[in-house]
Amino acid sequence: MGLADSLLITGASQLLTLGGRGPRRGSSLSNLELIQDGALLVRDGTIAAVGTHKQVEALPEARAAEKLDLGGRVALPGFVDSHTHLIHAASRAEEYELKIQGASYEEIARKGGGILNSVKKLRAATAEELKKRALEALRQFAAYGTTTIEAKSGYGLDVASELKILKLHKELAAEQPLDIVSTFLGAHVVPEEFRKKGGAKKYIQLLEENLLPEIAARKLAEFCDVFCDRGAFTVKESKRVLQAGRQWGLAPRMHAEQLSRSGATRLAILLRAASCDHLEYVNKSDIRALGKSETVATLLPGCDFHLGLEKYAPARELIDAGAIVALATDYNPGTSPTLSMPMIFSLACTQLRMTPAEAIAAATINGAYALRREKQVGSLEVGKQADMAVFEVADYREIPYYFGVNHCWMTIKSGRAIYAAKDSRN
Ligand code: NIG
Ligand code: FE
Repeated sequence: MGLADSLLITGASQLLTLGGRGPRRGSSLSNLELIQDGALLVRDGTIAAVGTHKQVEALPEARAAEKLDLGGRVALPGFVDSHTHLIHAASRAEEYELKIQGASYEEIARKGGGILNSVKKLRAATAEELKKRALEALRQFAAYGTTTIEAKSGYGLDVASELKILKLHKELAAEQPLDIVSTFLGAHVVPEEFRKKGGAKKYIQLLEENLLPEIAARKLAEFCDVFCDRGAFTVKESKRVLQAGRQWGLAPRMHAEQLSRSGATRLAILLRAASCDHLEYVNKSDIRALGKSETVATLLPGCDFHLGLEKYAPARELIDAGAIVALATDYNPGTSPTLSMPMIFSLACTQLRMTPAEAIAAATINGAYALRREKQVGSLEVGKQADMAVFEVADYREIPYYFGVNHCWMTIKSGRAIYAAKDSRN
């Protein structure tokens, strides 16, 4: 490879590198490793050098490299959105209206709405229709600065439909620039046909005997998730699913303590899950246990905001206890129809009382830990992918401050611009 494959990026008034060892816990969560007037040298899509403009420009390779000037804007690692339900067929705007009129999420679900509503729609949709919708969503993720997402199945809930989703994860990963980390969420809820006959027990058997072997053989997922809560799966059932997943090589992660305190967090820690997500109802002992564990505590404030709930996860207590706190969108049609990480930052700041710096670390380096991708993404360090979000702001704190407005100016994936705001194209 010649020098022509090198790219020199300069003009970052604030370059938030998020460098350092290990996941961010406690007071280190606010450590951005910020470089004023920062620069980056990229070689073949990988970061070759990072430092001040002066330092990087002095490197012999920098002279011959292609140049990109960020014009004094703020640059940070591309966001790692570690919890999304990317593939779904349609919105649930009709339920949104019912919720505003006072119906609770669980009431709607009991009447056959909720997840089962999305299952009906997904089963009726063709792979092409689902793919088209997902591609548009991925384009938007990039427009908000996200460069890596996790994607869960879980709106199929039969063999053909779950495989249809997981195969799309694989196809999409190959056909567009964002990294997609695939998670099997067959245990989202018990589907209608099993509620009439067999129940959770028979359905879990289907997951174990007909889905997991196929998923493992075709390498369609890296993680196995369970929705452990009232109206979904018990702790005992969740344990069985996650252990079966592990036997087929899928690492566990969980939806935990979202609607009630079920004990899911303790199970996640026991199973050394990659993450447990939501955590609105964790108790003091769960918080202490997360503080000592390697399981990432992923907070999803978009859900509480969209559902109009007052109870958000106890982010400050989790941070003070030393838990590895991550933030994600939970992009899905039922509880969090957003793919904007900057919007999640605004919610994290005002509702979870996280500082802008903490929110950014939670959605970059700690998100990468939640997906076990910390060696590849999540910070701007030598050897990692050159994945970057550039914002049209004077200071990084303005990213959450200007809520509901997209100030992302450019998104770079492996050294290549995958999104550019209109004014940056000329
Ligand atoms: O993360 N809680 C479970 N799953 C999703 C919601 C799914 C839905 O309502 O469609 C969540 O909130
Ligand atoms: Fe979710």
